[in-house]
Amino acid sequence: MLSKKIENALNNQIKLEAISSQYYLSMASWAETKGFNGVAAFLFKHSEEERMHMIKLIRFVNERGGHALIPALSAPEKSFSNLNSVFEQILKHEILVSSEINKLVDICLKEKDYTTHNFLQWYVSEQIEEEALARNVLDKLRMIGGENKGGIYFFDRDLGSMGTTSSASGIKTE
Ligand code: FEO
Repeated sequence: MLSKKIENALNNQIKLEAISSQYYLSMASWAETKGFNGVAAFLFKHSEEERMHMIKLIRFVNERGGHALIPALSAPEKSFSNLNSVFEQILKHEILVSSEINKLVDICLKEKDYTTHNFLQWYVSEQIEEEALARNVLDKLRMIGGENKGGIYFFDRDLGSMGTTSSASGIKTE
């Protein structure tokens, strides 16, 4: 059985994962309207992964005798200045998510809830991958430089294949 404190903390995390999913969905839609179809495919998939992170938490809270709450969300940002800005925002957002997961882990230790602590280890590893992925994509963009249209074309194409294939390309499908 979850303590109220942990249930509330997990519900906050459910909301953060929902926000992440909406945020990336908005980025995907923006990218698609700008003709960055590969980036859009990558971001649509990323948005789905965030939804899966949220559902995994919802199921866990309910399974442990709590009540997972489906949050109201405000509209995410709808336009972005360029691809660099999109991926900088993703990295910043993922760093925030990691810090919230770490706080949750800390609460579990303080409350001696080792079951939830164990469950959260999946999110701890996931965050390492998500941050690394965002850094990696940003590095590629910086290497190309904003004005290099040919470079951006190949970048978009590469991201498109990352958005539609499995972990062999560095993207997890869980
Ligand atoms: Fe579910 Fe990207 O954090």
